[in-house]
Formats: sequence, structure tokens, C-alpha cells
Amino acid sequence: MRIVVLVSGTGSNLQAVIDAVKSGELDVEIAAVGADREGTYGIERSDEAGLETFVVNFNSFPTRAEWDAALTAKVAAYAPDVVVSSGFMRIVSPQFIDTFGGRYLNTHPALLPSFPGAHGVRDAIAYGVKVTGCTVHWADAGVDTGPIIAQEAVTVEDNDSEETLHERIKVVERRLLVKTLSELAASHEAGTLRVPQAG
Ligand code: GAR
Repeated sequence: MRIVVLVSGTGSNLQAVIDAVKSGELDVEIAAVGADREGTYGIERSDEAGLETFVVNFNSFPTRAEWDAALTAKVAAYAPDVVVSSGFMRIVSPQFIDTFGGRYLNTHPALLPSFPGAHGVRDAIAYGVKVTGCTVHWADAGVDTGPIIAQEAVTVEDNDSEETLHERIKVVERRLLVKTLSELAASHEAGTLRVPQAG
């Protein structure tokens, strides 16, 4: 199963995928890693791992539609079976997702449909929930919406800050992402990889 991974920042989930591929735990081919801006640690990690990388800089395009079309073309050139949004903090168009047969995977640091968006951990703390977690799902063109594949809960401690809670969630999230990709790769190998119907 060929994947293209998209990142906007640190790329610690991506690193877990890279490590799992290197150790032989995860049988996928990382065709390339892309970012929406220059200078991300995620791209640096990928360069260090000897992976193909690219940047389609959101700020270099006059309109979102033109950026989206450029991103679609760039990712499509790698002919991925699955595109993984791993901390990729941009909404993509329905055309982008259609180009990849709906196979656009996202990971989110909350138990969706609760706390979607860029601040899932902060919002969970602000609401005062006692349990949050992470979600791996097929993304549609909404904000952290689409059919859920896997979730795992993480307890919120009384003294948690956004940083301490996010770090504990990420430990679980990295494992869940690798496990989900592993299961998808097995389905792909067996010719049974399907994107479930939304709703
Ligand atoms: C992850 O926790 C991911 O779920 C989140 O960004 C973090 C990226 O961390 N994504 C979202 O909030 C999407 N709405 P990383 O760059 O260290 O992998």
C-alpha cells in the first residue's frame, strides 16, 4: 500500500509511521511526505529518513482553489493508495478527496464528533470533560468529519494543561495510527480495502 503523508508541523505521528516501516512492523511504502508550508519539522524528519518530500505552500497561491489543485496534482503524481493527513491543518476540497477514491485518512486528538478543529485538546479541557482521546477516520471535506475507523480514550487529569494532555494523547494516537495503517495495508493486500459510507 503506497501512502503519501501530509504534515503541517512537528510530525511526531509521521515519525511513528516511519519508525514502524523501518522496523518492519508496518508494511506500507511511504511514497512521499508533503507540507503546506516551508520549514516544518515533519519535512526535516522525512529528509533525514531519506524520503521524498514536497511543499505546496498555501501562502504562495492567490486562491484556496489554486492551492488545492496544485496539491491534488502533486499528491496524485505519487499514485498513492491512501493519503494520510497527519497533523495537516488545512481543509481540502471534495475534488482532492475524490481524486484518491475517498481514501483520505485523518488523525485527530479528540473523540470525534466531539471537539473537531485545530484545538481539539484545548477545547476538551475548556469544556471540562473527564475523558477524551483520539480518532483515526476517513476524512471528508468537512472539519474532522467522516467515517470513524478507530478511537481510543485518554483520561483527563485534574492538573492537565493542553500540553501535558496532548502529549499523553499523542502517545496513544501514534500507536492507533500505525495499527490502523497496518490493518488497512492488510485489507489492501487482500484486495478488500473499502472506504465505508459516511453517516
Ligand atoms: C496530532 O495530535 C493530530 O491529531 C493533530 O495535530 C497533531 C499533530 O502532531 N491534528 C489535528 O488537530 C487535526 N484537526 P504531530 O505533528 O506531532 O504528528
